[in-house]
Amino acid sequence: MNREHWATKIGLILAAAGNAVGLGNLLRFPSKAALYGGGAFMVPYFISLILLGLPVMLLEWVIGRYAGKRGHGSMTGIIGLFFNQASWARALGSIGVAIPVLIVMYYLWIESWTLGFAVFSLLGAIPEPVNSSDPKTAMEPYVSFFRNYTAPSIWAGIFFWITLAINWIILQRGVARGIEITAKIAMPALIVMGIFLGIVSLSINDGRGLEGLKFIYNLNFSGIRDPNVWIEASGQIFFTLSLGMGAIATYASYVKPKEDVVKAGLFTAGINEFVEVIIGASIAIPAAFAIFGALAVPELAKEGTFRLGFMTMPAILMSLPFGQIISFFWFMLLFIAALTSSLALIQPLVAFFEDEMKWSHTKAVTVSMLIVILGAHLCAFVPNFLDELDFWAGAVFLLLFALIEIIVFVWVFGVDNFYRELTSDTSIRFPKLFVYIIGIVSPLFIIFIGYFWFSEKILDVLQETDPYKWMARLFILIFLVFLMALAVVSRKKVLEGPRI
Ligand code: PHE
Repeated sequence: MNREHWATKIGLILAAAGNAVGLGNLLRFPSKAALYGGGAFMVPYFISLILLGLPVMLLEWVIGRYAGKRGHGSMTGIIGLFFNQASWARALGSIGVAIPVLIVMYYLWIESWTLGFAVFSLLGAIPEPVNSSDPKTAMEPYVSFFRNYTAPSIWAGIFFWITLAINWIILQRGVARGIEITAKIAMPALIVMGIFLGIVSLSINDGRGLEGLKFIYNLNFSGIRDPNVWIEASGQIFFTLSLGMGAIATYASYVKPKEDVVKAGLFTAGINEFVEVIIGASIAIPAAFAIFGALAVPELAKEGTFRLGFMTMPAILMSLPFGQIISFFWFMLLFIAALTSSLALIQPLVAFFEDEMKWSHTKAVTVSMLIVILGAHLCAFVPNFLDELDFWAGAVFLLLFALIEIIVFVWVFGVDNFYRELTSDTSIRFPKLFVYIIGIVSPLFIIFIGYFWFSEKILDVLQETDPYKWMARLFILIFLVFLMALAVVSRKKVLEGPRI
């Protein structure tokens, strides 16, 4: 079967940027930065970007191109490639298909809120601002609005199904005609709206918003001894760059055989970081600083990622002139960012069905969407599902899978082989030392963070006895075993199929 390719170079770059730029940049980043001390968070953040983010980004691009030429776009087949498609290797690789799918199950639910809130802002159905300098009073109507909406309400359901349908339609149109065209429209719009909102936020209250930017950029080493800051900063790098789950490698598998993937990787990381540390840093935190002052911010962020984006932000924006329109822009910005990411989170499963099971495109998309829709409904309706999936798939598994990727692509493939792939068909030649950074420094860093995870979090979490949490864990396990079984059963088809 002929695999699809991205139609244009600019389309490829925008699709990859759309993959990485998401709710992580505009919601998760400002909340984490606020919660873990602003400038104190940024030091481990930048160290993680250099030692983990960039190396793993290039690793996934290079291997994605290599695997795509050989007919594989999902981690099942990609990890399999290096072990003659042995059953155990395919099963192991399937973790890298399960992770993005488990993430998208809750990601879509949040994505649908952004659409709903955008429409509600425009229609004036969002609460009117209360004139009060006390953050608690000012936020009250927005907190109850959010709670009622996500209870879930009928409207939340309607926007949820619209969101699911939009994703389904785009994926059905395929890589070039669906994902690429969407990115070509969405990404420029996202950048323009992001810059506009950044300017608005920084200038609220005669530029008091700038204090918020200073809070984030007051780089300091006070968090450097806190394992939690390291866990969160490195986790944010993985999440925001879409790494450690095969999502980048899947997109890379659709490049033309001689594409410059090193350049593409650097562009992906560059655009993502621009939208995160420039645009993302200039909106929510500065806006909150401008209205509620410095002391309110850590308090606001404590209530989680959703507080800042869905309660604090509308409370602030609605109090500005043309508040409804500005609030609409904010939620549209989030929706566009989320949409191009949710497509990227589902595509690995589509690639798995097409490349490994040899299903037709329509069948692959239909079954993928049915699975995703089932899980997404569980996240929307069962308590604690969202948090559990985020904890395991959005944090723990990523780290583990990134380690597996490095071991297989650098050490099993071989340093020389990998270096040959890294330096072929590119205008940017990295020195060989870079391979050793990927192969040695990055894994040591992951092991170090993994140790923190284990000692600080996982043991505690496993002692919780909440039945819903255990249901979610059981669901994750069943899904994983299901994918692994398919990976093993499809092995024969892949080996018998025509060699590409
Ligand atoms: N990077 C995306 C974000 O910042 C999330 C994502 C993860 C998207 C993995 C695709 C794959 O929101």
